[in-house]
Amino acid sequence: DWIMGDYIEEAVAKIREQVGDEEVILGLSGGVDSSVAAALIHRAIGDQLTCVFVDHGLLRLNEGDMVMDMFAGKLHAKVIRVDASDLFLGKLAGVSDPEAKRKIIGGLFVDVFKEQAAKLKAGDGGHKGATFLAQGTIYPDVIESGGAKSKKAVTIKSHHNVGGLPEQLGLKLLEPLRDLFKDEVRELGVALGLPREMVYRHPFPGPGLGVRILGEVKKEYADLLRRADAIFIEELRNFTGDNGKTWYDLTSQAFTVFLPVKSVGVMGDGRTYDYVVALRAVQTSDFMTADWAELPYALLKKVSGRIINEVRGINRVTYDVSSKPPATIEWE
Ligand code: XMP
Repeated sequence: DWIMGDYIEEAVAKIREQVGDEEVILGLSGGVDSSVAAALIHRAIGDQLTCVFVDHGLLRLNEGDMVMDMFAGKLHAKVIRVDASDLFLGKLAGVSDPEAKRKIIGGLFVDVFKEQAAKLKAGDGGHKGATFLAQGTIYPDVIESGGAKSKKAVTIKSHHNVGGLPEQLGLKLLEPLRDLFKDEVRELGVALGLPREMVYRHPFPGPGLGVRILGEVKKEYADLLRRADAIFIEELRNFTGDNGKTWYDLTSQAFTVFLPVKSVGVMGDGRTYDYVVALRAVQTSDFMTADWAELPYALLKKVSGRIINEVRGINRVTYDVSSKPPATIEWE
């Protein structure tokens, strides 16, 4: 619409003025905020922007390819995809404590990103190198990191959003979404031509499947989980509930959790002894408290039938009926 059109024009002009003929690096995660920031900055300065997409191997099915198709393919933005899955899985081997896993994933993520950023900053022959780091910081992040507003007395889970990166890298900060609320960021994303499914996605934690595979993370587990989760999400998008909305849109967050536990089943005339997954779907307005979603039985039945038939290695599907508190939304 025209209001958003005006907003984009203004924001583009501001970015051009701030950046001039310098170059910008942005860490693209595939999440809403960094995606919208990338699309907006690309609209403003085109090839003066380079996106760095670190694939830690703990993304959802085809997620890395989808990010590349969108940004490199459709928007023609410069994107460096760093496939660091072996590095991450290697460092995670033998580690089962949730906080230890978060620290490893968060720390490696910063290391890998910094290495790329340092290269881009250095530039190469005849090419002067980047001077700005762009971040998809939005207004609620600004408030949250204000300190005084921090309501949480204890950190229950350490989130890996890192502060201080621009200073460490010696780069100036570019944060074009700083004044926007989440719903405004989404509208902006749609107006910039990003697909609705990308812009209205459920939140996905930085450590990704690393905290959705309970205990030790293994590639085998991640591969099974990815396939099961893709089926769950697909069916949430297929089934509609109130107001003709899909169950994906009627829930705030929904995902599959891999339990490294085997249970007995039967298939044909054989006995199986395979892994278990739990489906999790919640409704919440602020993610501080959440109710488990009363998904239709028909949907649960379809999902469990498909997972057990299509994902060899999983023979049992359960549904998590715990609310937050006392359970958290993620299992780790
Ligand atoms: P919990 O599980 O604490 O989750 O009820 C609340 C919200 O935070 C997300 N979450 C994370 N996000 N890094 C993130 O970026 C993390 O380590 C992390 N842990 C939880 C969770 O997905 C939910 O939206």
